[in-house]
Amino acid sequence: MSDPIGRIAELQAEIRRHDYHYYVLDDPLIDDADYDRLWRELADLEEKHPDSVTLDSPTQRVGAAVSELFSPVQHLRPLFSLDNAVSGTELDAWEQRLVRLLGRSPEEYVCEPKIDGLAVVLTYREGSLTVAATRGNGAVGEDITANLRTLYSVPLRLLGNHPPSLLEVRGEVYMTLDGFEELNRTRREAEQRPFANARNAAAGSVRQKDPRVTASRALEIWVYQAGVIRGGPTLRRHSDVLAYLRSLGLRVNPKHKTAPGLEEVKAYVKQMLDEHHALPYQTDGVVIKVDSLADQDELGATARAPRWAVAYKFPPQERETTLLDIRINIGRTGAATPFAVLEEVFVGGANVKMATLHNEEQVRLKDVRVGDRVVVRRAGDVIPEVMGPVLTGEEDRSPPWEMPSRCPSCESPIERPEGEAVARCTGDLTCPSRLREWLFHFSSRGGMDIDGLGYKKVKQLTEKMSKDQFEDLKKKEFKELSMELIANPAIRSPADIFFLEPSIFEWRKGWRDKSIRNLLGGIEAARHRPLWRLLVALGIRHVGPGGARLITARYRSMDQIADATREDLAAIDGVGETIARSVREWMDDPDNRELIAKLGQGGVSLADPEPESHVPPTLAGLSLVVTGGLQSMNREAIRQTILARGGRSVSSVSGQTSALVVGASPGASKLSKAEQLRTPILNEEQFLALLESGPAGILPN
Ligand code: IVH
Repeated sequence: MSDPIGRIAELQAEIRRHDYHYYVLDDPLIDDADYDRLWRELADLEEKHPDSVTLDSPTQRVGAAVSELFSPVQHLRPLFSLDNAVSGTELDAWEQRLVRLLGRSPEEYVCEPKIDGLAVVLTYREGSLTVAATRGNGAVGEDITANLRTLYSVPLRLLGNHPPSLLEVRGEVYMTLDGFEELNRTRREAEQRPFANARNAAAGSVRQKDPRVTASRALEIWVYQAGVIRGGPTLRRHSDVLAYLRSLGLRVNPKHKTAPGLEEVKAYVKQMLDEHHALPYQTDGVVIKVDSLADQDELGATARAPRWAVAYKFPPQERETTLLDIRINIGRTGAATPFAVLEEVFVGGANVKMATLHNEEQVRLKDVRVGDRVVVRRAGDVIPEVMGPVLTGEEDRSPPWEMPSRCPSCESPIERPEGEAVARCTGDLTCPSRLREWLFHFSSRGGMDIDGLGYKKVKQLTEKMSKDQFEDLKKKEFKELSMELIANPAIRSPADIFFLEPSIFEWRKGWRDKSIRNLLGGIEAARHRPLWRLLVALGIRHVGPGGARLITARYRSMDQIADATREDLAAIDGVGETIARSVREWMDDPDNRELIAKLGQGGVSLADPEPESHVPPTLAGLSLVVTGGLQSMNREAIRQTILARGGRSVSSVSGQTSALVVGASPGASKLSKAEQLRTPILNEEQFLALLESGPAGILPN
């Protein structure tokens, strides 16, 4: 090598260019192996010529700088905060103020995603990164140079041959959401406390004593503002500043957009509101800035924030609040689910007082304890969730939560069988909580659909009356009230619903003639529901409406189902082993058989009526595919008709298919498949003939 020093400079520039394309533009020019080769060549040369190693060499990211970690750094210009807007009206008010101050409306705005990470300041002198600092109080931050040097999206040296003599840029360091998930997963595995959200994880990662830890975290940066540019081109617009920063190799978010007026700004906000969930990083709003730098100067700043920018905040999806208590819910199957009782907060567009904690293991891993400050998340329609505690390390914490040993509802022991994730109340349906959840499921829309029996009514009718309530009632109007009433709730099993007497409502709160009549009407209607609804309502594991319909298409009464073997059930097309085993187990439990008998005594129909006329099994042994629309019946009717005549209705053409029935606008792939396999093709008329008289003369033998 004739000029190793020259080669070092060449390799540095080459690697920088590849880093820029890979980490900033996300558009690599060469593959990893070629990149590694360049890197090793540089590292070898630098080892032989230590005097030529500069701090901004690509090899010097980790462990090179003498760490002045966390010593104070005075910012060249103070960092401001941003004023917030939370509605279109507040944006209008912001613009009106601009118009008042400028005497006209600004020509253009720039909209940018508001990144939910932590603000940092990077200083480049003569093109090399000299200092990286946190925002701190806006005037003075902390030195995090050694840590930020480990981020590949932070260039150690700016691109190009004529960097500005001094550049101070601001940006947001964040953790990618994938990186955050992954980090929490490994932390859980290592029995370490997971981070509550990506922002906390980013902040924690940047404030590490050992830069190697920072280097191992999925941190990236978006830069969004220049504080000082000395010795660079004259720029008149913020959008030009962003383009310039990008040309220097700094990572500028490509999602920013100029907008000529507030209408376009609002459209951008609306679009981001819809789309930001899908971004690979966390955002909490849109920052809107006046584009003209002259206008920015003229508008200036208040003590706290510039007048030329505003943050449109999305409704917060995460908030901090106090965890007041951890309680458990007992579900229909007895599963004990811990949930958090919270000091009320407005989050994700609603007031939240309770949030799920999923299960015992999650509480342990998140290590949330009563009295902690916690992060609560409510995103979209998802149920609110406690993410984790926010700890300073100074607080006196209560002991770790433990699953109660007894059910809060029935006091039966709560047990978690070996190897299972879920602890359960062992109290069967003597547990009021379990009974309530089951009854609610039983009478719900998807089950027996009992009109007039909503959650509140179910709750009331499954609760025992308190002694005080009883004494009170007795004193007032109901002298004859018997002690039995407080010993037992009105409903102790789904069957009891069908034995309710109007008299039990007389002295209960919230029942009027109309609601009683409504409920009794609903109960009467429920006696005549098709059998599949009853099967679903019974809450047999794995049996949903689909499975229930398949079973009741084969077996038309509860007796037949109860007599069917597991093999019989599993042989039903679409049912399978899991459902079959579950149904069999349920039917083998004498309590359940008793329940069915009692439902029958209560007048509940335990069989579907026989089909009116006997349908001949003209399609026995045939397997049909229908494509396109038929004149005489819709999709479901076609399916039912084929099934009723002993045939199979399948969705794709194969070697087993007996015929393809073709209606209007058929699927091209089915047709060509059938042609390829020489499957007989029938039109609607031929299909009707087949239904009527079977395959003879219509299909080949
Ligand atoms: S500009 C004077 N642009 O939001 C204006 N800030 O609430 C300075 N932030 O401390 C900020 N994304 O940490 C700006 N595209 C963006 C931003 C952004 C996130 C943060 C920044 C700032 C905070 C203000």
